[in-house]
Amino acid sequence: MKIRTDIAYQQCIGAACGARFDIEEAIFECPKCGDLLDARYDWSRAVLPKRLKGFEAKWARQDDPLAFSGVWRFHELIPFAGREHVITLGEGRTILQRADRVAPYVGLAGGNLFLQYEGLNPSGSFKDNGMTAAFTHARLVGARRAACASTGNTSASVALYSAVDGRIPAVVLVGSGKIAYGKLAQALDYGVRVLQVQGDFDVCMKRVKEVARELKIYLMNSLNPFRLEGQKTIMYRILEGLGWEVPDWVVVPGGNLGNSSAFGKAFHELIEIGLIKRAPRLAVINSAGADTLYRIVREERLTWNGGRVDEPRVAAFYKQMEAENRRAKTIASAIEINRPVNLKKCLRALEWTGGAVEKVTDQEILDAKAQVGAGGFGCEPASAASVAGARKLRAAGVIGQGERVVCVLTGHALKDPHATVAYHTKSDGELAQEYGAYGVRAAAYANRPVAVEDDLAKIVAAIQS
Ligand code: F0G
Repeated sequence: MKIRTDIAYQQCIGAACGARFDIEEAIFECPKCGDLLDARYDWSRAVLPKRLKGFEAKWARQDDPLAFSGVWRFHELIPFAGREHVITLGEGRTILQRADRVAPYVGLAGGNLFLQYEGLNPSGSFKDNGMTAAFTHARLVGARRAACASTGNTSASVALYSAVDGRIPAVVLVGSGKIAYGKLAQALDYGVRVLQVQGDFDVCMKRVKEVARELKIYLMNSLNPFRLEGQKTIMYRILEGLGWEVPDWVVVPGGNLGNSSAFGKAFHELIEIGLIKRAPRLAVINSAGADTLYRIVREERLTWNGGRVDEPRVAAFYKQMEAENRRAKTIASAIEINRPVNLKKCLRALEWTGGAVEKVTDQEILDAKAQVGAGGFGCEPASAASVAGARKLRAAGVIGQGERVVCVLTGHALKDPHATVAYHTKSDGELAQEYGAYGVRAAAYANRPVAVEDDLAKIVAAIQS
């Protein structure tokens, strides 16, 4: 493996521009028109397996980091870097779990619901799939410093890779008071510079782009096309978990829309290469308190439109949002985002896959989260949006009864224990007081702890009651 300047390049996604750039440039937005960039490959020059099954055997090679990593195991499908550049922690060793105990909640028969448990990554979220690829590209371009804006998980992952590698110090920008404790704890522990910026994620995102430009710092947000290359591999592992059969649906929470963009690209490319025949339908789930994608797709009816997204209408939408002072507000703090940077790529992914968009309330998110936990998995609130969304789409008949559905659990339950403990311990009245502003009133699936005196008879009675 060498730097694949012969195969890989970057290209502007806009149909009107489409400019190409070298793989060794750290640019993040098209220098000509400001649109998003893709990592692209000339597949005719790439060395590709004849069948997807060829990837499975690499699982066993513990001594080769490129085979051990659940991302780099698929390097033939993300062929931009040389072995010498790869920074890996053995991320992506996550598996597809059949979730028969959660299936009835979603309205599916046992055997038809699967959970892709990305909380099992080294920093506890799916971000590590993307971060190994972005840090690898950062090495490839000789970056000296890295930065990101974050609702928490990106900062935890950046901090981890920066700390382990030691050659690319990082700074992370988080909204003040907006980040779950588990995630903040990680960034602090791994020793990166943490800036708590007054404002929300969107403020941090805007500032970090300015900072990256001004100080020539390598940007680690999903605006970075190489992040998304790593996140494609989540889909390869889902296919692998199903014996390389394509499911009917992949359901994912939507925040900054990096995942949905990456997932659509993964399937589009596999079809292009001839390794699969059809894509699953992608369902992207917004929190009702952060529903920009939902409004853009379901109300404004905007589409990818062959790379000519109706920009003036997007601009008018955001102008109206500012005029009404509408700000994202959700218990699923990971996806509390007003202006998703990958909006256009997500619209493209929806078109490529015949996708759907839904939104779910914080009440639905917390209830679904409790069901996921009781099924033996566990996830943070934002992740449960996928399960809550699948349930809603199933109830509406969009997802059919006999269809095979995969929900992506994006982050570990321990990222945000506050929401979990509040749900299970507070009375409905207390819950309404703490989370009433989020529309949460009751905990239908609470597993309430029992207070009991230090008395054997009473303890026995409490166990048997
Ligand atoms: N789930 C979790 C647990 C997340 O942390 C995020 C995003 C998402 C879903 C949304 O994914 O942006 O690809 O649509 N977290 C980012 C962060 C924004 O800064 O950690 P997306």
